[in-house]
Amino acid sequence: MKGVFLVLLMLSFSVNAEMPVGDAERGRLKFGPCRTCHYPEQGVGHNNGPSLWNIFNLRVGSQPGFDYYSDALKQADFVWTPELMNVWLADPKRFLPGNMMMSLGIEDAQDRADVIEYLKTFSEPETP
Ligand code: HEC
Repeated sequence: MKGVFLVLLMLSFSVNAEMPVGDAERGRLKFGPCRTCHYPEQGVGHNNGPSLWNIFNLRVGSQPGFDYYSDALKQADFVWTPELMNVWLADPKRFLPGNMMMSLGIEDAQDRADVIEYLKTFSEPETP
């Protein structure tokens, strides 16, 4: 399992190298299809997919109250970062095979960066 994670990390770095600068306002519009299943706002809770509030501080597949995680997400072990989110959204099936997110992700690197920038605005303020 450790070996698999290393490969994933390396994959993330190679994608990361091409990550453009995102724009949260554009990301808000591009988040539309995700919103069918996910709410990023604090306190709104889960939909068909888990809440995305504060996602960049959370461990994958671990949110209380969301009972539909696949084993793929439950067994994965990392905290979401923009880089890992970039790899996940580029090709969800390849990043965590066996996951149950019915989405092909986001093909365009700029669109991914915009959505990631948008999601960053839904986070706890960093404690100094
Ligand atoms: C058809 C519904 C659906 C759509 C559309 C969808 N998701 Fe998901 N998403 C899910 C489900 C269900 C899971 C849990 C998957 C699992 O456990 O295998 C999930 C999981 C996730 C997770 C992991 C959450 C965690 O707690 O670890 C992230 C991040 C995420 N989705 C982001 C997105 C983004 C960004 C989009 C838009 C490109 C998107 N999703 C589109 C249903 C959806």
